[in-house]
Amino acid sequence: MTNTPPPRVALVTGASRGIGAAIAERLAADGFTVVINYAGKAAEAEALAAKIEQAGGRALTAQADVSDADAVRRMFDAAEAAFGGIDVLVNNAGIMKLAALAEADDALIDSQIAINLKGVMNTLREASRRLRTGGRIINLSSSVVGLYQPTYAIYAATKAGVEALTHVLAKELRGRSITVNAVAPGPTATALFFEGKSQALVDQFAKLAPLERLGTPEDVANTVSFLAGPDGGWINGQVLRANGGTI
Ligand SMILES: NC(=O)c1ccc[n+]([C@@H]2O[C@H](COP(=O)([O-])OP(=O)(O)OC[C@H]3O[C@@H](n4cnc5c(N)ncnc54)[C@H](OP(=O)(O)O)[C@@H]3O)[C@@H](O)[C@H]2O)c1
Repeated sequence: MTNTPPPRVALVTGASRGIGAAIAERLAADGFTVVINYAGKAAEAEALAAKIEQAGGRALTAQADVSDADAVRRMFDAAEAAFGGIDVLVNNAGIMKLAALAEADDALIDSQIAINLKGVMNTLREASRRLRTGGRIINLSSSVVGLYQPTYAIYAATKAGVEALTHVLAKELRGRSITVNAVAPGPTATALFFEGKSQALVDQFAKLAPLERLGTPEDVANTVSFLAGPDGGWINGQVLRANGGTI
């Protein structure tokens, strides 16, 4: 008699929409039980969970502001209580607020540091204590780390911090058979990217990559699926730019 392995569990932060929703859907199709974290959009998170369940998958929604360490701890507790443990953490939740440094107010600086950087620290701390042996951690960075365009300083600094966390944690988890990597998308067709951009500017961004289009959430989800799945097991401590060749 063969023992059926327990279903592997993936927690995706910021999965109510955009890239995170595509990642949750893809990991569910790959056979993971998924925890769909969101901050405010409960209806969208519930609709995604229902869609995954209808397709034969298993999903749970979990409200938590990732910048709140207690809320993150409670979310990990809830996921463990529901499914017995967590195997994959995808740190996808993030915000982007653009301004030249001279124009940046405190709220613009503090909110991006709180969510993009402290939020990732909060979830990485829980994951490094709790992830099951053989687990995977995938952090969303951005190709703006490398492009360094004007107005992106604060956002890019938070993502450069995420890349630093990725490299260090990969080493701190020595002996646990857990990989830690980052995926750094280029311009990707989501609300975060389109906000405040004219059609002309969107077209300009779409031409950046030699493949001459914007990325889709599914393009990024495919990359995350590779790193979370069996074929990605030897990739560790790396930043994988998924950007059609932008940089
Ligand atoms: N789109 C791009 O061009 C691009 C390029 C490179 C990297 N990225 C990165 O990819 C990730 C996803 O971006 P996206 O474009 O899909 O963004 P998006 O469409 O704006 O979606 C953001 C998601 O993050 C969640 N979120 C925001 N603040 C949160 C918080 N404090 N706690 C928990 N969840 C929170 C939102 O949840 P609610 O809606 O429920 O509040 C939503 O599900 C981000 O880390 C972003 O920096 C995006």
